Amino acid sequence: MSPGLPPVIAIDGPSASGKGTVAYCVARRLGFHYLDSGALYRTVALAAMEAGIDLDDESRVSAIALNANIGFKNERVWLGSRDVTEAIREEKVSEGASRVAALRGVRAALLERQHAFRMAPGLVAEGRDMATIVFPDAVLKVYLTAGAEERARRRYKQLIDKGLSANMTALLQDIHARDARDSGRAVAPLQRSGDAIEIDTTGMTVEEASAQIVSCYGQALRAP
Ligand code: DC
Repeated sequence: MSPGLPPVIAIDGPSASGKGTVAYCVARRLGFHYLDSGALYRTVALAAMEAGIDLDDESRVSAIALNANIGFKNERVWLGSRDVTEAIREEKVSEGASRVAALRGVRAALLERQHAFRMAPGLVAEGRDMATIVFPDAVLKVYLTAGAEERARRRYKQLIDKGLSANMTALLQDIHARDARDSGRAVAPLQRSGDAIEIDTTGMTVEEASAQIVSCYGQALRAP
């Protein structure tokens, strides 16, 4: 941990590994701030798409990442004065987010924004490169994963619970494709940090996974 800076718990993992829900639950248990870094990439993609910018145009998308008025308030995500919490979860925005996340300029522009979430008493940050790039000095680094089929099942349930239609085979294919894209890209690929603990949440509840992380955090603090 860096002396004088609030502690960070970095949680990374593949898409639909449950890291969002688990990270949020850990933050609640500890009374820490919470950063959903994927929401930043998603909101940049949405803003660029709405401005009619080509998502491969690195300098224009990076300018959006640098200047867009993105805010998190009361568990909602804002773009200027507009609540975009639901809009950024749409499939076309998910696709766009994975494209803009591959741009070096966008990642650099979002770095400062992410550091700004590090406030007392502490931060739980989740994404793909929290432990490796954004908060390499995190007190605890967790790599959260789950089998692809389990992740597809969770997504299926989420969609059905929302009253939407879903197809397991298509969801599983989508998860494999996203894993390949996130892990295979040249810039900041998803990878487990060498000093991260790996937790496989297959068959675990959110409460069990978050309790395990809180316990590991306590041990990390006590470690010499
Ligand atoms: O976690 P998520 O599905 O909301 O992330 C949306 C996209 O952003 C996904 O393609 C991965 C990417 N991302 C990233 O590259 N780095 C992060 N720290 C967080 C998300």
